[in-house]
Amino acid sequence: KSPIRLALLGCGTVGTEVVKLLHEQAGDLTARIGAPLELVGIAVRRLGRERGDLPVDPALFTTDALGLVKRDDVDVVIEVVGGIEPARTWITEALRAGKSVVTANKALLAEDGGALHDAAAEGNADLYYEASVAGAIPLLRPLRESLHGDRVTAVTGIVNGTTNFILSSMASTGAGFNEALEEATELGYAEADPTADVEGFDAAAKAAILASLAFHTRVTAADVFREGMTSVTAGDMASAKEMGCTIKLLCIAQRTADSVSVRVHPAMIPLSHPLASVGDAFNAVFVEAEAAGPLMFYGRGAGGRPTASAVLGDIVAASRNKLTGTRAPSESNYAQLAVRPIGES
Ligand code: HSE
Repeated sequence: KSPIRLALLGCGTVGTEVVKLLHEQAGDLTARIGAPLELVGIAVRRLGRERGDLPVDPALFTTDALGLVKRDDVDVVIEVVGGIEPARTWITEALRAGKSVVTANKALLAEDGGALHDAAAEGNADLYYEASVAGAIPLLRPLRESLHGDRVTAVTGIVNGTTNFILSSMASTGAGFNEALEEATELGYAEADPTADVEGFDAAAKAAILASLAFHTRVTAADVFREGMTSVTAGDMASAKEMGCTIKLLCIAQRTADSVSVRVHPAMIPLSHPLASVGDAFNAVFVEAEAAGPLMFYGRGAGGRPTASAVLGDIVAASRNKLTGTRAPSESNYAQLAVRPIGES
């Protein structure tokens, strides 16, 4: 069978692990898909950075991402650069031209997911983004497919690894926010600029994606009430402990008969609650559905290799669909529920 041709946009923490997994798992992937995968190009910001340990021909690297996306021989585009532009232009161009896209770009999906799904429909292409929320945890596909015979009523979870590490460390050591953030930075959990994590922007983007899929309606990051966790003090944590509780940065998305509400803020939860024992940089998400009852998803929500695992799963799905001429389920925004601002009844 002729190969499925992949173009990779971005070769940072996640991208390098995607390349390694494609190489390590090549035999199994070919067997699972029914055709080999061939990486035909890797777009990077700068050529010449040390990438000596990557099992690819150095000639594959290019700085012309748009040129790579437009190549006629590309079947699937993998975007792991992040940010709104130029990722939006690349992804839209690919989808409209009938190339399937696998992306981990939560900011873009939370801002403009509707337009991306429209572009996918226009090009009869797939748009997969399992890695955009909760890293390795299979969560979007269950919401997008497995639970489609049910009605999801609530999604509650810890969807940011950095802040969970900081809050868990404050709870166990009695440290203050700054000290715990310093530790998270030293251990490589927190980014050089941790604003998106500690101010809740990262979790709000993920909450918007989860709510859109869970409730079949369009929720953007701007619809999400957001409060970061920088004001949680060692004293707050000690008081919570005295009450048999701990503090976590939670994403809470709820559905009523005709509306949804989505919020991200620090919340006190009893130590007996399963989310209380989610430590380190792990993520966990509770989904409640009318027939299924409660479901819990738990695992590594960040990190190159765990995130690459989710990307690879999407590559397999998109490649299989290419071979068989089928498509992923389209985003079902039929519910058109009102998004209720927090604080209004
Ligand atoms: N900064 C994110 C986190 C990375 O800490 O969870 C994964 O999206």
